[in-house]
Amino acid sequence: MTTGDHAGTADLAPSGAGTRAYTIAHLPGDGIGPEVTEVARDCVDAVAAARGFGVEWRSYSLGGQHYLSTGEVLPAGVLDELRKADAILLGAVGTPGVPPGVLERGLLLRLRAELDLYVNLRPSKLRPGVIGAVGRHPAADLDFVIVRENTEGLYAGAGGTVHRGAASECATEESLNTRAGVERCVRYAAGLASRRGGRLTLVHKDNVLVHAGDLWRRVAGEVAAQAGLTLEYAHVDAACLYLVDDPARFDVIVTDNLFGDILSDLGAALTGGLGVAPSGNLNPDRSGPSVFEPVHGSAPDIAGTGRANPAGAVLSAALMLDHLGEPQAAADLDAAVSEVLGSGAPATTSGWDDALRAALSATAGAR
Ligand code: IPM
Ligand code: MN
Repeated sequence: MTTGDHAGTADLAPSGAGTRAYTIAHLPGDGIGPEVTEVARDCVDAVAAARGFGVEWRSYSLGGQHYLSTGEVLPAGVLDELRKADAILLGAVGTPGVPPGVLERGLLLRLRAELDLYVNLRPSKLRPGVIGAVGRHPAADLDFVIVRENTEGLYAGAGGTVHRGAASECATEESLNTRAGVERCVRYAAGLASRRGGRLTLVHKDNVLVHAGDLWRRVAGEVAAQAGLTLEYAHVDAACLYLVDDPARFDVIVTDNLFGDILSDLGAALTGGLGVAPSGNLNPDRSGPSVFEPVHGSAPDIAGTGRANPAGAVLSAALMLDHLGEPQAAADLDAAVSEVLGSGAPATTSGWDDALRAALSATAGAR
C-alpha cells in the first residue's frame, strides 16, 4: 500500500486497480448485520472503482449464531487474521438465546481492548429529508460529534459480586480512568475540534464523580490549552437537556465511555434514529485496524424482511474510508446518503442499494 502510515498489504492490490489497495475484514454478524453491510460493501466497491483504489474483502463468521452453533466467540486465529486487515467493517452481533455479556464483553469489548480502539467516534448530523426527535431544530443546529473514550471507565470490567444470591449479596462496578487513557482520547477530540469549528466540550459529572471527574477536567484542560482551544464543560445531565433544547451549542463532545454510550443514542434520536447513526471504533495511533459499525444492533425483529435501513452502515463505511486516507471516497458516500434521504428514503434495503448506487454513479459521471 502506498498511503503512508497504514499497516499495509500492497501486494494484495488487484491488478489494474490503481496503486492504493486495502484489505477489509467483513464481520456481517447477526440479524440485519449481513443485509446492511452488503449494501455498504457495494457502495465501497463503487467508490473504490470511481476513485481508483482496490479493496479486498475477507469475511469472517462471528456473532450470536456462530456462538450458538460452535461455542466460539472470538477464536485466537480469527483475531490474528483481523489484526492483519487495514480496517474492519462490522454489521451487528446479537441473537436471542445468547446470555447477556457473552458477545458484548467477549467480542465487542474484547476487540476494543485487543485492537486498542480507544476512541469511539459517533457523529450526529441532521440530514435533508430527516425529521429528528425534536422537530423544531434546523439542520444547521444539529451537527456534532461525540468522541467517546472506548477502553476504560465503567467498561473496563473492574468489579465483582460477593455472596451471590444471598441477602447480603453485593455487586460493584468500578470506573477506571488513567491519565494516559484520558489524555489520548482528549488529544484526538481536540484535533478533531481544531479541524471543525474549534469548539470542544467535556461532558462529565465532576460535581459528584469527584475523582474521575477531576482527572478528566484537569487533563482535558491541559490538552485543550496545548491545542489552543478553550475547553467548555457540561455536566452529563445538563448536556442531555441542552442536546434536546439547544443542540447548536455543541460541536465536538468528549466524554467517558458510559456517558458517551448514552449520549450517542440521544444523538441518534435527535438526528433521525439508530438507522442513520454511524460509528468508528478508532485506533488513532494505527497500531492496528479500526472497527466501523452502525450504532443499531442486530434488530432480529426485522431481520430478513428486507426493510433494514443501511444508512448507518454506509455512513460507517464512509468513516472507514476517511480513516484509511480516502477522504474523497468518504465524502462521496456521505453525500450519496444525504441525497437518497433528501429525495425520500426508500422503504426497502434493496431500494436503498439501487438509489445509493445511482447517486454514486451520477457523482462519478459528473466529475
Ligand atoms: C454500543 C453498544 C455497546 C456499548 C454494547 C453492545 C456493548 O451499546 O456500541 O453503543 O455499550 O458500547
Ligand atoms: Mn450503545
